[in-house]
Amino acid sequence: MRFHVPRGQMRSCWGATPVFVDIDPVTFNIDPRRLADALRAVSSGNADDHPLPQGARTSLKPKTVIAVDLFGMPADYPAINRIAADFGAVVIEDAAQSFGAELKGRKAGALAEVGCTSFFPAKPLGCYGDGGMCFTDDPQLAAVMDSLRVHGKGTDKYDNVRVGINGRMDTLQAAIVLSKFSIFPEEVVLRQEVAQRYHQLLAGLEGLTTPIVPTGYLSVWAQYSVLAASEDHRKRLQEGLKQAGIPTAVYYPKPLHLQTAFARLGYKEGDFPHSEDASRRIFSLPMHPYLNSDDQEKIASALKNLTK
Ligand SMILES: Cc1ncc(COP(=O)(O)O)c(C=O)c1O
Repeated sequence: MRFHVPRGQMRSCWGATPVFVDIDPVTFNIDPRRLADALRAVSSGNADDHPLPQGARTSLKPKTVIAVDLFGMPADYPAINRIAADFGAVVIEDAAQSFGAELKGRKAGALAEVGCTSFFPAKPLGCYGDGGMCFTDDPQLAAVMDSLRVHGKGTDKYDNVRVGINGRMDTLQAAIVLSKFSIFPEEVVLRQEVAQRYHQLLAGLEGLTTPIVPTGYLSVWAQYSVLAASEDHRKRLQEGLKQAGIPTAVYYPKPLHLQTAFARLGYKEGDFPHSEDASRRIFSLPMHPYLNSDDQEKIASALKNLTK
């Protein structure tokens, strides 16, 4: 049985130090081989094979691996769970973009010891404001999360047994998600159709790389993201599409290790080359379950003209 715990905002890090890991350049998800390098480097304090944050050579102990299912496709959890277990680390699946996706028939959110998702409107199952949920099949962990969610409540709600947060999901948002949930399975199917049409329409376009879904995976296509040949090429394509009235977005222009918030960790450009390369060339096309073939043909023909 899995326990579903509605989630609000989680405090960042709890004193932990993030150690970043590069992506697989094909799936854009965490690369399990690099994860193994990172866990070895953290455990030994030897940064020769993996960039470590400043001051991490002696003081860190692997505790948790957080894998993100980017653009709606699950990361490689069979490998991630195995590697993390070797180092005694718990895996958290960030299924904010992959709710509804599957890996070998198992649903996203249930692919690691703990899963979490977001119901932010841009997500595959979105409410009209903020919302989210955590998943675990460990009853003790579920009880702790339930307590943390409401100010650290104990069995008596006015006896707080720990310091928690206000993580209640708003009732109105919950009602919206419940209502949309009933048509969600159909929307997952529609998303596959939209993605398939893009694959066919965009196949073979000069300088454009379309997304690949490995065997055994079902993406929920939170985004349909393509790679341009270079940063300049992306700029030209985005500008041309904008002129044709077609919106695009870049998820994400700056990798985590180069974010200002993490400057104190001392990471530098070149530390995670695949993430950096993707951040320069990736961009996302319009994607939702109700995108019709006429609109997709217009998008594809605009791209064809721009890549000639
Ligand atoms: C992969 C991923 N993780 C986490 C989040 C955060 O979700 P929320 O803003 O609902 O906390 C998002 C949303 O943008 C996301 O895409």
